[in-house]
Amino acid sequence: MKIAIGCDHGGIVLKDAVIKAVTELGHEVIDYGCYDNSSVDYPDYAEKVARAIVSGDAEKGVLLCGTGIGISIAANKIDGIRCAHVTDNFSAQMSAEHNNAHIIAMGGRITSTEDAYTFTKTFLTTEFAGGRHAMRVDKIMALEK
Ligand code: RB5
Repeated sequence: MKIAIGCDHGGIVLKDAVIKAVTELGHEVIDYGCYDNSSVDYPDYAEKVARAIVSGDAEKGVLLCGTGIGISIAANKIDGIRCAHVTDNFSAQMSAEHNNAHIIAMGGRITSTEDAYTFTKTFLTTEFAGGRHAMRVDKIMALEK
């Protein structure tokens, strides 16, 4: 799979751990930046990653900002995208299993590098359960209409 990664200056501290998790699983990373600690605007990186998924350039994504909140809100503004803000491993699992999320968002100021590595692996290795959850996800997406 191709996995799109995007971050701002508040989330870049987690990027190496996320890349490690993605590559260890045999997936390809597409890194949409940012690339250093200069102050940038997280909606720009949310948009790059979300649009990469909508266009088919990537299948899933990971977004990182200071809290994971702003960058997840921004990603969810792109039609077709479900981005889950996760702060624990169970949520990372459920974001894939129940919500069929395209992206997880995490915060460099609240989540450790070890946890970001674990949450990324959980997200990317958990299958969507389908069934009643598919119907609920369909209802989410109908809200865009
Ligand atoms: C940037 O200072 C910070 O606001 C951003 O990284 C993020 O936490 C927003 O939700």
